Amino acid sequence: QAATDYQAEDATISQGAVATNHTGYTGTGFVDYTNITGSYVEFTVSAATAGTSSLALRYANGTSVDRPMDLSVNGTSVASGVSFPATTDWNSWATKSVNIQLNAGSNKIRATATTANGGPNLDRVSV
Ligand code: GCU
Ligand code: CA
Repeated sequence: QAATDYQAEDATISQGAVATNHTGYTGTGFVDYTNITGSYVEFTVSAATAGTSSLALRYANGTSVDRPMDLSVNGTSVASGVSFPATTDWNSWATKSVNIQLNAGSNKIRATATTANGGPNLDRVSV
């Protein structure tokens, strides 16, 4: 099944803002996480059938320090401290992929910053 893109700027944002001050994003912008522990972006993702899917997060981290995030699906933690390492600069984007289990129908996927640096800049997820 082909992946569907979900833009971060269209998702639910807690302690973050839509931004366009760097290049290379898709859609109309990206999310700049507030640099604080617990800032998150939550996507509502639809799946035709229950089962394992690949979740690809497109991000930029223009610092030299990792910006780890916890990932949850429908309120259950599925991956803790997932690494989002440096991407050279804020205009350079990389993709981090993890496998997740989805329910048939609507699912909530949340990516939460675990350090005071906040998350990386987040462009989109593909599921
Ligand atoms: C800079 C950059 C932002 C980024 C921020 C950060 O301000 O322009 O896009 O989110 O650093 O360190 O989180
Ligand atoms: Ca930020």
